[in-house]
Amino acid sequence: MVKVGIINVTGYVGMELARLLHRHPGVELSVITGRSAVGQKLGEVLPHLAEIDLVIQPQLGDVDLVFSALPHKTSAEAVLPALERGIKVVDISADFRLKDAEEYPRWYDFAHPEPRLLEQAVYGLVELNRPAIAAARLVANPGCYPTGALLALAPAVKERLIEPDIVIDSKSGFSGAGRTLSLTTHFSEANENVAAYALDGHRHLPEIVQELAKLDPELSFSVTFVPHLVPMSRGILTSCYARLAEGKIAQDEKGREQIAKLYREFYRGEPFIRVVATPPQTKHCWGTNLCLVYPTIDVRTGRLIVISAIDNLIKGGAGQAIQNMNLMLGLAEGMALESTAVYP
Ligand SMILES: NC(=O)c1ccc[n+]([C@@H]2O[C@H](COP(=O)([O-])OP(=O)(O)OC[C@H]3O[C@@H](n4cnc5c(N)ncnc54)[C@H](OP(=O)(O)O)[C@@H]3O)[C@@H](O)[C@H]2O)c1
Repeated sequence: MVKVGIINVTGYVGMELARLLHRHPGVELSVITGRSAVGQKLGEVLPHLAEIDLVIQPQLGDVDLVFSALPHKTSAEAVLPALERGIKVVDISADFRLKDAEEYPRWYDFAHPEPRLLEQAVYGLVELNRPAIAAARLVANPGCYPTGALLALAPAVKERLIEPDIVIDSKSGFSGAGRTLSLTTHFSEANENVAAYALDGHRHLPEIVQELAKLDPELSFSVTFVPHLVPMSRGILTSCYARLAEGKIAQDEKGREQIAKLYREFYRGEPFIRVVATPPQTKHCWGTNLCLVYPTIDVRTGRLIVISAIDNLIKGGAGQAIQNMNLMLGLAEGMALESTAVYP
């Protein structure tokens, strides 16, 4: 059995990885590391995971593949020794997502320790990058917001249905901000409150633009991305808006049908993408690895509107990371990921 490890199990993504990997029939979760809880049984720190009989270690042992669920900067530092030892890596932080090393000081306030690896790292958005992921030794798991936005926009961009001037509006639950306490995530400040943030540019913006440009290198994208925090534990709802390109799609009911058909064709056979017939809600995919996508046209203004919904911790984090691992190890892509949404 292939042995896998989790670097830092105590965060939200780390604990979701442990929960999903524990039931994975094709791999053995053999090592979990931590910072604050070294030496403790996982169930002592995270009682909902008590059936996983593992002790939190200070160091990664002998594994074939490792997930890093650390914050940016610390993640790159932690996975470099693993890569040197020939261990395959799925990095869930942002540390290998951007191709241009100069973007790291600008957006993440650190100089990348190993820029040559940025070229080798494969961006782990499976639906757009499957063959390269299967052959990769280092996969950069996409950010949660970019996952929802790129899956919503990819068919329209690839088919040149829209102008490259795009507005992306996302609403996220608080687990997207991680487990570390802050005033923003304090219950009495966050509950019954909705707030926009990072209007000068969120860290996920360069990632979104980079990946849109890969879909159509001839276009110059102008993207306005505004994330919002809403009082829910998990989930991201993303609404994307862009003007329809001249003469491509009728600006009427027929056009709506055309666009839905085109999206269904684009994602035909994708196990985790559902092109849905009504606007999706975050609860429709709560606890699943699904991305629900609803494209339509605002016939009054000639704009494409695409709504997507994901669970930020699963398709936007741990689930997508396991989907990547399955491909990297030649396992069935959906192993340990098939589930139905928890509702209400
Ligand atoms: N949350 C999401 O929806 C989401 C989605 C996609 C990607 N991501 C990315 O996944 C990574 C983990 O996110 P998360 O939400 O799980 O974060 P989190 O809940 O805050 O957990 C972070 C983990 O890293 C450890 N840690 C924090 N600072 C550290 C440091 N300076 N040195 C060593 N360990 C440190 C924590 O350990 P202790 O418990 O010991 O302090 C904890 O295990 C981040 O890079 C994030 O950007 C998150």
